[in-house]
Amino acid sequence: MTNSMKGKVALITGASRGIGRAIALRLADDGVNIAVNYLQNEESAKKTVEELLAKGVKAAMFQANVGDLDAHKALFEGVLKTFGTLDILIHNAALGAFKPVHRLKMNHWDLSMNINAKAFLALSQKALPIMEAKKEGIIIALSSLGAHHFIPNYGAIGISKAAIEATARYLAVELMPKGIRVNCVSGGLVDTDALKMFPFFDEFKKEVLQRTPAGRIGKPEDLARVVAFLCSPESSWIVGQTVTADGGLSLI
Ligand SMILES: NC(=O)c1ccc[n+]([C@@H]2O[C@H](COP(=O)([O-])OP(=O)(O)OC[C@H]3O[C@@H](n4cnc5c(N)ncnc54)[C@H](OP(=O)(O)O)[C@@H]3O)[C@@H](O)[C@H]2O)c1
Repeated sequence: MTNSMKGKVALITGASRGIGRAIALRLADDGVNIAVNYLQNEESAKKTVEELLAKGVKAAMFQANVGDLDAHKALFEGVLKTFGTLDILIHNAALGAFKPVHRLKMNHWDLSMNINAKAFLALSQKALPIMEAKKEGIIIALSSLGAHHFIPNYGAIGISKAAIEATARYLAVELMPKGIRVNCVSGGLVDTDALKMFPFFDEFKKEVLQRTPAGRIGKPEDLARVVAFLCSPESSWIVGQTVTADGGLSLI
């Protein structure tokens, strides 16, 4: 598995922290060169790049708000100028307001739909000509259990994740004949900075912990390993799926 990934180039949105950073480090273990996208946390992005370089791969950071479609052109130009190509696109960045759905303002709706769902399609469309020319490519988006289950105050993100999963299924059918494989990776609660945004976080975490058959909260590496598998030829027969890694939480 390791050798077939060596020298590939991956663009990971939101790779400065949390799950995106863990995916970057895991793919670097397979010899993948990494374009680290981030929004504002330059220090964290720099630290991730340093960790990647220490693993012996090429890495560089690219600031861009992926919710701003006008920023995608410069992002892709930067990646191509630095790495010369793109083999893997991972849309991991996400934002959203934590409120009940019936109290969402339309700008909350737009924010999560733009950064999470619309950006996934727009970034995939930008990656398409590069991957089409090579007759191969991997596109993966991060989703979460809120796409299918009610999670209090999580509707804005959950609904946008449902859109992501549906988009991935359509793209998968359209792009697989061109050699481009599209999938999603979904998780339960994963211990990252994002959790601090949840209202009543401590009670929520305790409840999730009690309900999770595996008896712990997820770690970024739990999802990163699944993403790495879906990037590798070992998973070549998995197309247009959402692969869930949640310690069994969604079964309860
Ligand atoms: N944490 C969970 O419980 C959980 C569970 C299942 C799935 N997920 C999914 O996994 C993904 C990562 O979650 P996480 O918990 O690791 O998040 P996180 O710790 O909050 O990190 C978010 C990352 O996204 C970047 N980002 C945010 N908005 C952006 C934008 N508009 N443009 C570019 N980059 C942006 C941030 O950059 P800066 O550092 O510059 O702010 C940061 O690198 C998300 O798609 C999330 O929905 C999370």
